[in-house]
Amino acid sequence: MDMLEIYGGNNLTGAVDISGSKNAALPILIACLLNGQPNRLQNIPRLRDTLFLAELLRSFGVDIEAQKNNQIFIDTKQITNNRAEYNMVRKMRASVLTLAPLLVRTGAAQVSLPGGCAIGSRPVDIHLKGLEALGAQIEVTQGYIHARLKNNTFVGNHFKLDLPSVGATEQFILAAVCANGESVFTNVAKEPEIVELCNVLNRAGAKISGHGTNRLCIQGVSNLSGIDHVIGFDRIEAGTFIAIAAVTKSSLVLKNINLDSIESVLERFRFAGVQFEYCANSQSLWVKPPECLRPADIETAAYPGFPTDMQAQFLATMIFAHGESTIYERIFENRMMHVPELRRLGAKIEVYNSKARVIGPKKLQGAPVMATDLRASASLVIAALAANGRSEIRRVYHLDRGYENLVEKLQMLGAKIKRIAQ
Ligand code: EPZ
Repeated sequence: MDMLEIYGGNNLTGAVDISGSKNAALPILIACLLNGQPNRLQNIPRLRDTLFLAELLRSFGVDIEAQKNNQIFIDTKQITNNRAEYNMVRKMRASVLTLAPLLVRTGAAQVSLPGGCAIGSRPVDIHLKGLEALGAQIEVTQGYIHARLKNNTFVGNHFKLDLPSVGATEQFILAAVCANGESVFTNVAKEPEIVELCNVLNRAGAKISGHGTNRLCIQGVSNLSGIDHVIGFDRIEAGTFIAIAAVTKSSLVLKNINLDSIESVLERFRFAGVQFEYCANSQSLWVKPPECLRPADIETAAYPGFPTDMQAQFLATMIFAHGESTIYERIFENRMMHVPELRRLGAKIEVYNSKARVIGPKKLQGAPVMATDLRASASLVIAALAANGRSEIRRVYHLDRGYENLVEKLQMLGAKIKRIAQ
């Protein structure tokens, strides 16, 4: 397992290209299964998660070309296998979203339960309840979801989600777009990645309305045309680089982004004293950090609230703020594992019941630390870049899941970081 070596304390400078969104790319790649057509997706980030998903889709028998310069061609004309194996699903939880398209195309599917992960148990109970409401017969045995459709088709229905789950909302969209009749889903998630998925499907002939609100209405259609789409930017990567600029007191330019989907993140960084200047023509955001960061409290929430995927990165930033900040994780039950590792660097943080109290400012000293999950590893990179001296970050594969070329991007900005093969 590779590790990162970082010498912190450097001021960074320059511009960084923000990659395509992992959390938009995954459901849209899976949506290609629905149409049985050739599809072209561009600006797909080159990540472990997208590579794993391509492997899984290939195992269904579809024709998917190896990713070249962030472009993927996938022809889903033939599906010869409707079983998603545990050894693949466990590596990439969003694989559970293949359940609906496999049912639409083949009338049956066996998809492994994804299992929990570091940040929580992450059940799929809402996914299964919603699919049953649309006519799926589902049995869970020996770690697999065994599903089949009566008459080989979903039937439109009304369904209220217990909570605005992103994945469950995406699952229902994939099931309902080709169902018999109309479906109405309430208490759905409103994340930008869901809006992007719906826009892509509507361009392919689907009839979806209400995306971006908490009520989705979908009129089933008999078939969909191929998808040709350029994936939007990754709002979480953008937020991560804002945190890096803030803690290293570096003025950076983030390229290929727009502000619509990151307002809640910008607002908290502005409160902490970071200034921003956006140029719509060049789609660039100039990040200008203050000499002294002010403390800021956050509570994670479903969109448009402060995203849980930015919690660890913002917490790391508040280590350097002049005062006390409260970081309250309200989405996942175990998403504070970055805290013990940040303490190893010298951070002053107390945690009780997913609520962290960060006391700053604190000078950090480099040390060996261990990544525990994707966004926790990002928070360790942020802190190490502002710590004095040398840090080692182990289990870097967590980072590789969600950040494209992070080491190279940081080196281009002047960071003293390198990857060491273990
Ligand atoms: C998506 O995960 C994202 N992943 C996550 O990003 C993100 O943290 C999460 O949404 C919340 O925004 C992708 O889009 C690939 P949820 P998902 O279903 O869909 C509970 C990252 O770092 N729940 O909205 O799995 C669940 O336990 C990743 O890029 C149920 O109880 O998240 C959690 O507490 C991490 N039953 C809450 O809902 C269900 O059937 C939100 O989960 C489904 C979810």
